[in-house]
Amino acid sequence: MTTLEETPGSSKADPVLVAHDVQRWFGGLQSVGVDHLEIETGLVTSLIGPNGAGKTTLFNLLSGFDIPNSGSVVFGGSDISRAKPHQRARAGMVRTFQLTRSMTRLTVLENAKLAAQHQVGERLWCAPISALWKRQEREIEERARAVLATFGLGRMVDEYAGTLSGGQRRLLELARALMLEPRLLMLDEPMGGVNPALRETIMDQLRSLAAQGTTVLIVEHDMDMVMGVSDWVVCMAQGKVIAEGRPATVANDGAVVEAYLGSGYGDPLEPSDVEGAQ
Ligand SMILES: Nc1ncnc2c1ncn2[C@@H]1O[C@H](COP(=O)(O)OP(=O)(O)OP(=O)(O)O)[C@@H](O)[C@H]1O
Ligand SMILES: [Mg+2]
Repeated sequence: MTTLEETPGSSKADPVLVAHDVQRWFGGLQSVGVDHLEIETGLVTSLIGPNGAGKTTLFNLLSGFDIPNSGSVVFGGSDISRAKPHQRARAGMVRTFQLTRSMTRLTVLENAKLAAQHQVGERLWCAPISALWKRQEREIEERARAVLATFGLGRMVDEYAGTLSGGQRRLLELARALMLEPRLLMLDEPMGGVNPALRETIMDQLRSLAAQGTTVLIVEHDMDMVMGVSDWVVCMAQGKVIAEGRPATVANDGAVVEAYLGSGYGDPLEPSDVEGAQ
């Protein structure tokens, strides 16, 4: 970590993800034009930048929900440029969305279990012994209850997901992602609509995931969170990576300050100016 170079596109010691020459055009406008980006294993990396910088589009391209006009994505040493989102997820690249996507007519517990059942079901499709299935089912349920409790949803397990608040749905989505035991967890604005007390919970969870070796990549506008949770920050503006480095380095970077000023957000060093911005 201490030896990583703080320049856009720098090589990392042990990158889990390498994007090269990833471009996405809509009509005549380029939304993403990332020459090179490496995400280091086991760190929490935040992707920041003003509205319209291309953060969500890049997330979509990395996770296979959108196809780049050119470029390659290598995950865990394998070229996944042509892999579908579910194939990337099975390889350990799991993402959540800027707008939550839980299944409103299932209970909170069912939502969490479903994420893992799909995975285990595929692994065990030929299991001849139903006892084995039942044991798996029990283990999944225990794990789901534990993960939900960590996010303060322990008492909501039997509620329909549709009855949750926006913030609670975001926590449920995070819990569902964790049920997949991701190698790379990608979160698009995980703090959106989450109350301040639970923000701390999320930050603690992300830190402890990283400590256990999970790589975390988040898109976040809340600068308090970015400064508090990140080992590394990548800033995009107009589709390009304009700076990357440790949080304090990027927050003080002239190009970053200019990009935020140009967007009318003020100085990113002042968290209150940026917090809550969508
Ligand atoms: N499907 C699309 N069709 C046309 N233009 C698009 C499409 N998706 C994104 N764009 C454009 O690409 C640019 C980048 O958008 P993107 O949503 O990736 O930004 P962002 O950094 O995630 O912004 P925000 O912080 O507001 O979420 C914007 O100019 C946007 O209008
Ligand atoms: Mg976005």
